[in-house]
Amino acid sequence: MTTQATIAFLGGGNMATALAGGLLKQGIDPARICVAEPLPQRRKALETLLAGVTVISDNGLATANAHLVVVAVKPGVVDKVLGEVASRLAPQAVVLSIAAGVSLERLAARLPPGQALIRAMPNTPALIGAGITVLCPRPDVAEPQLELACSVMKAAGEVAVIRDEGLMDGVTALSGSGPAYVYLMAEALSDGGVACGLPRELADRLAVQTLIGAGRLLAESGQHPGVLKNQVTSPGGTTIAGLGALERAGVRGGLMEAVRAAWIRSRELN
Ligand SMILES: NC(=O)c1ccc[n+]([C@@H]2O[C@H](COP(=O)([O-])OP(=O)(O)OC[C@H]3O[C@@H](n4cnc5c(N)ncnc54)[C@H](OP(=O)(O)O)[C@@H]3O)[C@@H](O)[C@H]2O)c1
Repeated sequence: MTTQATIAFLGGGNMATALAGGLLKQGIDPARICVAEPLPQRRKALETLLAGVTVISDNGLATANAHLVVVAVKPGVVDKVLGEVASRLAPQAVVLSIAAGVSLERLAARLPPGQALIRAMPNTPALIGAGITVLCPRPDVAEPQLELACSVMKAAGEVAVIRDEGLMDGVTALSGSGPAYVYLMAEALSDGGVACGLPRELADRLAVQTLIGAGRLLAESGQHPGVLKNQVTSPGGTTIAGLGALERAGVRGGLMEAVRAAWIRSRELN
């Protein structure tokens, strides 16, 4: 991060800790970060986890000098927390909410008119810096404000920006829920290995590393998945036999339906 912005996290849970920890690893001055967290034991833990960062209990105080205020509490607490800090926000401050399913409209209703506001949806691999976060700014957010928010979320992995909030349900269904689909695949691949006589420990290792390796190759080669699939599929060989079984079981359609079902559910929950 190149600016000298100060950043406040409201809520010192898993996500705030991952983001602040990622920023510290990138070399940000800890004096530029403040975390507000109500639970005394958690504050004590944060002082150790995030050495040098200011950890306090008062959301309003944390907000007062911040250029970027990250709302990192559970969705059910968002309205209360925004109510506490609304009058303390600097006019140029950006509010970045990572609360799942909380719309820009609902957030804006608790804030002064014209306050820069961005909604973001990270996913759980963010906890190890390997997530992907989709940010959706309100139309009046200035480019440098959006860049500041992106630079903070980059501490947790990749970022993408969308301008149409209606796409957030699709984001939730794909990258938000997606890790669970991959865990199911890992479990099933390992079970298949065990069915072929492999010891469970080895099958687990092979399944996990195959998912990691294939994912990295896909990302780093820039190749279409179909091209990479064709490269490991020799005529009359083992892989085409396995792929045929996947198609007969409807796995491709099943994955598509999983994303669509999650999308429908996300829209119902709005
Ligand atoms: N974890 C993920 O991968 C993920 C993915 C997508 C979106 N999100 C979103 O990110 C947000 C944070 O998730 P998380 O996993 O970090 O949750 P979390 O670990 O439960 O963290 C929330 C933190 O907020 C604190 N808090 C509660 N009330 C507060 C208040 N009034 N003022 C300030 N802090 C308060 C909680 O303290 P107590 O422990 O005392 O309650 C807790 O430390 C959620 O809205 C979630 O929807 C998370």
